[in-house]
Amino acid sequence: MTSQTLREARKYEEASDKMIKKEERPDFHLSVRTGWMNDPNGFSYYGGKYHLFYQYYPYDPQWGAMHWGHAVSDDLLHWEYLPAALAPDEAYDRDGCFSGGAVTMDDGRQLLMYTGVLRERQRDGGFREVQTQCVAVGDGMDYEKYEKNPVLDENDLPDGCSRNDFRDPKIWRKKDGTYCCVIGNRPADGSGQILLYTSQDGFTWNYKKVLAANNNRFGKMWECPDFFELDGKGVLLVSPQDMLPSGFEYHNGNGTLCLIGDYDEETDTFTEQHDQAIDYGIDFYATQTILTPDGRRVMLGWMQNWDTCSIRAQDVRWFGQMSLPRELSVKNGRLYQKPVRELEELRCNKVTYQDVCVSGTIALEGVKGRRIDMELVISPEEGQEIYHKFAVRFAQNDQFRTSVSFRPKDSVLKIDRKFSGTRRAIIHQRRSLVNSADGRLKLRIILDRFSAEVFVNDGEQVMTATIYTEQEADGISFFADGAARIDVVKYDLTAQG
Ligand code: FRU
Repeated sequence: MTSQTLREARKYEEASDKMIKKEERPDFHLSVRTGWMNDPNGFSYYGGKYHLFYQYYPYDPQWGAMHWGHAVSDDLLHWEYLPAALAPDEAYDRDGCFSGGAVTMDDGRQLLMYTGVLRERQRDGGFREVQTQCVAVGDGMDYEKYEKNPVLDENDLPDGCSRNDFRDPKIWRKKDGTYCCVIGNRPADGSGQILLYTSQDGFTWNYKKVLAANNNRFGKMWECPDFFELDGKGVLLVSPQDMLPSGFEYHNGNGTLCLIGDYDEETDTFTEQHDQAIDYGIDFYATQTILTPDGRRVMLGWMQNWDTCSIRAQDVRWFGQMSLPRELSVKNGRLYQKPVRELEELRCNKVTYQDVCVSGTIALEGVKGRRIDMELVISPEEGQEIYHKFAVRFAQNDQFRTSVSFRPKDSVLKIDRKFSGTRRAIIHQRRSLVNSADGRLKLRIILDRFSAEVFVNDGEQVMTATIYTEQEADGISFFADGAARIDVVKYDLTAQG
């Protein structure tokens, strides 16, 4: 039975997405159907298609009572909207259906698991959210909430754990069919921890253990956990709130964190060995992964950050996009990311240059655009002193530009979107330490109208930023203080023709 609240949302979104022209959206990144989008949810492969749900408030380009938006795709790049899947319409979730995941059950139906939110009045007149875990079952289009929801509540928490911060179940199934999920929670130390629960049927859940504890090392509460095995290692992805900066690795505010270690499946023991940021740019948060039918671990994230949401004016029809889906691998204790290989199908109009000397500013014939895939190999000019700075500028016209610049002496790469048309004084620049010997660096830059994703050294690092610069600003130029040499391979990318 579809509730009145869900019916209204479905009617509203159908009428209002017609008012958004295709050119006003990214081309091959999923953007919200209408209104507001944050975290990816329920990233799954079901009924022969990829499904991606998302945190959704259709009625305004601002966060509100959370619904689940829904889209499907054959290739992770061309998305088709389906009707909203969940609405906050029950006593236990009337203030929001927060983030969660999806799996296929033995009977072929799809199980969604999400956080139900209820705001409870306090004695002092204020409100506090109570967060519980709930499930809904459906056919890839319509979902029925379980009559015995919630399936996990404060009684399933270890002593001293907060029932106000208990959210974002990411669910998967083991080879033997067991259902598992990891959930973010705040223990007595006020920071974050990840709890592991298991179930035989997806409805009755048992607390297993604390899979990982923050102990106040990386920010406070850990949101949106995901846990999987990859290349012989256990990988835990989380999005910490309230981070303090640490060198060039972690920045203030909402961040992303990848912990890599050994995982013993028998005892569900995860032993941390390495930590790193997931994305070193400005706009990336709340990751979720999928195991594709052909065995790839693919991750995407909300291509935004809570601290930079004012980048767009309030009078727009949509706010919120997902990052590119990225294929993950682990090498030498490090997470590597590459755009999904399906992206190569969108390439056209190849332009190549080899061994171009850059000293001062140059532009290259045929190298421009706002939907592009550009590979760039930078090296020092032979026989000369190493250059001081190299920069590639894009989304450029007389007034605007976004740049990625590199100072080889410090090995620091910087993304700067200050001149991208935003009128808000938010973070516009971010720096990252990168691996480079003698001024050599490899970049792959993907632009899709309103975003730039910069993959460094074959995916060793990524820097992501949104840019809402007017589309007429489509110039690209190269700059060197000193002399550098570049090889360029540039393609246009088109999903809509
Ligand atoms: C992360 C988050 C989640 C929560 C959702 C609410 O961005 O705060 O923890 O489930 O957003 O929309």
